Amino acid sequence: MDTGICPDKAAALYAAEAERYRHTHPQSGRLAARTHGHWLYGVPLHWMQDWSMPHPLFVERAQGVHIRDVDGLDYVDFCLGDTGAMFGHSPPAVAHALAQQAAQGLTTMLPSADAAAVGELLSQRFGLPYWQSALSASDANRFLIRWARAITGRSQILVFNGCYHGTVDDVFVDLVDGVPQSRDSLLGQVYPLTAHTRVVEFNDLAALEAALQDGQVACVLAEPAMTNIGMVLPEDGFWAAAQDLFRRYGTLLIMDETHTISSGPGGYCRRHGIDADMLVLGKPVAGGLPTAVYGMSAAVAERAMATKAAAPPGHSGIGTTLSGNLLSLAAMRATLEQLMSDAAYEHMLALADYVADGLERHIADLQLPWCVTRLGARCEFQFSPTPPVNGSEAGARLDDALSHTIHLYLLNRGVLITPFHNMLLVCPQTQQTDADRLLSVWREAVQTLKAA
Ligand SMILES: Cc1ncc(COP(=O)(O)O)c(C=O)c1O
Repeated sequence: MDTGICPDKAAALYAAEAERYRHTHPQSGRLAARTHGHWLYGVPLHWMQDWSMPHPLFVERAQGVHIRDVDGLDYVDFCLGDTGAMFGHSPPAVAHALAQQAAQGLTTMLPSADAAAVGELLSQRFGLPYWQSALSASDANRFLIRWARAITGRSQILVFNGCYHGTVDDVFVDLVDGVPQSRDSLLGQVYPLTAHTRVVEFNDLAALEAALQDGQVACVLAEPAMTNIGMVLPEDGFWAAAQDLFRRYGTLLIMDETHTISSGPGGYCRRHGIDADMLVLGKPVAGGLPTAVYGMSAAVAERAMATKAAAPPGHSGIGTTLSGNLLSLAAMRATLEQLMSDAAYEHMLALADYVADGLERHIADLQLPWCVTRLGARCEFQFSPTPPVNGSEAGARLDDALSHTIHLYLLNRGVLITPFHNMLLVCPQTQQTDADRLLSVWREAVQTLKAA
């Protein structure tokens, strides 16, 4: 793949930037030496070592759009906890609600009064009447797959090639040379996933219909626009035609809006008139506290309750002890009432467009075969001359070494972006000056790479 950048030159720049990082982050280096022997990979979660830095960056505080590290260095943050902090780090409304609730109980296996308000707010905002809570979007997706299979009595599910919906084993099935296969990287999975999971390319209606037409597929689990293999937008008319197929073959549509909630206050589906039967929201829905929710249409809820009523008593396999805890409900209420406002989105969408326009200008100026894909408050530069139309195309344009070099160059100059591929997200506190800083450092990084 030709990215327009020589890989050897990128490697040399990476080495220089890694040296600079080590030199300027002595305190993080000391903490890394301590964590090294006690956490697997030296970090509380192994993904934390997937950033571009030669050793982890340790955070002192994160507020609004800023992160300060333990060496006293400041960063403007376009990663935003990869969406968990989409409404800014530690939003005062959430911090206040948490402090108040924390003094009055954390978890009880009983709802607080906030449950009434949160249920109403979710229904009004997303147009689905019935909701349940979970602790993570991964859990919510798993629970909905289980509901969908139970309701329909069908075992098969369908996903789009290259998808990611969290740690949901069922969906780790890829098309390899057109043949479905369990994803090689999935550790410890011993069941043949392809027995119950079908996979087709995004934007391929013919393949979708072929996979659904035997009437065996319980649900399609999808992001309305793919965001985890590089961003892939739906082509015009794709979702309208796909929904016709779902209705024709009795397949339920589960929309995972965990990332696409960046599209607008009611998510991508509300904005684009897609009727999901079930919907998942995770990450930012409680302002950064580990919480997720999933919603159902009235028809699906009726079938779900009838299915449960007909099942023998005992564990359902759906839910965890701390789901719906008092802190989560308080944080969700504050987020829904005070943070996810039209005004916040108006600001974020305009600023993300400003960033995307700026990146496009630089790409054109520097004559690189790259493009920028937009999704509301987020955008992504991709090493592809045109926006990819499916997961295979997007995956083929990833270049981790090049991404890491750019990311580390930015980080060394006070700008953080998402460690996985090249996504950028803005929050209500991001200012135009922050965007200008990103754009100028980004241009400098890419110019240096070209000249190197
Ligand atoms: C679309 C989507 N769904 C679900 C998840 C899982 O979220 P979590 O890791 O919070 O469970 C992710 C995580 O990145 C995601 O991108």
